[in-house]
Amino acid sequence: MPESIGSKKINVAVFISGNGSNLRNLIFDSFKKNSKYKIDLVISNRAGAKGLKYAKKFKIKKKIINYLNIKNAEKNILVELKKNQIKLICLAGFMEILSGDLIKKFKGKIINIHPSLLPRYKGLNTHQRAIDNKEKYSGCTVHYVNSKLDSGKIILQKKVKIIKTDTSIKLAKRILRQEHLLYPKALNKVLINL
Ligand code: GRF
Repeated sequence: MPESIGSKKINVAVFISGNGSNLRNLIFDSFKKNSKYKIDLVISNRAGAKGLKYAKKFKIKKKIINYLNIKNAEKNILVELKKNQIKLICLAGFMEILSGDLIKKFKGKIINIHPSLLPRYKGLNTHQRAIDNKEKYSGCTVHYVNSKLDSGKIILQKKVKIIKTDTSIKLAKRILRQEHLLYPKALNKVLINL
């Protein structure tokens, strides 16, 4: 039976490292009438991540995880996930790689947003690489996380046209606007099958 049947919402954790604009958007989506989920926990590997302000503003629990030692970091993450009955993890600009162990424990329950049309341009610096290669389009992808970087099954993608005058900053901005639309859609799609 889907987790959301009855009044109880599905607890979702969002992992961030930076600005948190995707986090903000997911929070707004979760406030919508009939939303099946609640952003219950924000995890950051950086105490100074700007996006933590949204956890404060919307009174969402937050946890800073020290990543000096990945084993300890993930042990602490697992404690938090269990304590808060988290059923799904959304990575949103989280700049650490999760170990195979954590991915196995949360198999099929971790999703990520990536600013390119995967499988093209995995990893960092996606916008500049797409421009340098004279691509006509780039875009964004929400995908399941598996043990290979940016390689899990694709949930949804959105194309964005690259224009002549684009710089990586301009293109990143236009793609980010599409990310904000795509991530909630993809999350809601995943929740239906959870
Ligand atoms: C986004 O472009 C996302 O695709 C990438 O990191 C950026 C995070 O932006 N993984 P924000 O922190 O959500 O504003």
